[in-house]
Amino acid sequence: MVHFLSVDDVTKEEINKIFDIADDLSDSKSPIKLSDGSVLALLFEKASTRTRVSFEAAMAQLGGSSIYIDTKTSQMARGETIGDTARVLSSYVNFIAARMYNHDDLVELANYSSVPVINALTDVEHPCQALSDLYTVKAAKKKLRGIRIAFVGDIANNVANSLLLAGAKTGAEMILIGPKGYHPDPKYLTKAKEYGPVDVFTDMKEGLSDVDVIYTDTYVSMGQEAEAEKRHKLFAPYQINEKAVDYAKDDVSVMHCLPAHRGEEITSEVLDGPRSIAWEQAKNKMLVEKAIILHLSEQEL
Ligand code: CP
Ligand code: NVA
Repeated sequence: MVHFLSVDDVTKEEINKIFDIADDLSDSKSPIKLSDGSVLALLFEKASTRTRVSFEAAMAQLGGSSIYIDTKTSQMARGETIGDTARVLSSYVNFIAARMYNHDDLVELANYSSVPVINALTDVEHPCQALSDLYTVKAAKKKLRGIRIAFVGDIANNVANSLLLAGAKTGAEMILIGPKGYHPDPKYLTKAKEYGPVDVFTDMKEGLSDVDVIYTDTYVSMGQEAEAEKRHKLFAPYQINEKAVDYAKDDVSVMHCLPAHRGEEITSEVLDGPRSIAWEQAKNKMLVEKAIILHLSEQEL
């Protein structure tokens, strides 16, 4: 793997290797460090709390460092091209993690970069989130093969696309539940179906029957603010509340990539309740991001 722009940039074997590195990292008796004073540039066009801070803390704990660049205060805001920015940044740092609106801009950044580029979220994918989330599912359910994961709500968004591909690739059964007209891009559905079983539902009760994991995300992703009113109306029947949880298995786990909009896509009762693993999920982001960095560094572990 040269860059990590999409879940499709990693094989199932690489995902397992990343999970093994994460397991080794959680064993505090054998702290793994980056072999040199590596630097990660975080080039962000969109807001972030978890991804930014977890990558920065990850680099510090691995013995490296990081530099956060808000594109609004960089020369990109004054018209410097993505290609020129990538050429220069990659001559200073060892990795670039970028959060961008347009996925093609991220691809362009990678094309001009001489160091690995990591997708820290675009409009269409959030692959670090997906790998970290499946690591959390594996920890909670002791396996991934045959685990039924239902993504509910905006099943066409970036988090859904990446989880769909990564879940199907690692042997989970993927279930998508959302309103008609907002179903995933057929490109993602077709790819995921090549890896494993995928079912799409519009009905909550039908879709949630017998699922092991319920996953939800905001109705309005960053960049979709103009559609907020329409989206709130359309997705309201897909709220994860006690009734929705009751449709699933008794030991169902509830996940949310966060930030949550309490009372919208999920109730506080569920997010703070006994079925929620959203907080372990957030914590695991740093561990899996460290593993992704170490995997990309290609150093002997
Ligand atoms: N889940 C996630 O990516 O959160 P941030 O937007 O806070 O980084
Ligand atoms: N789908 C959300 C995820 C935020 C982490 C967004 O893109 O805003």
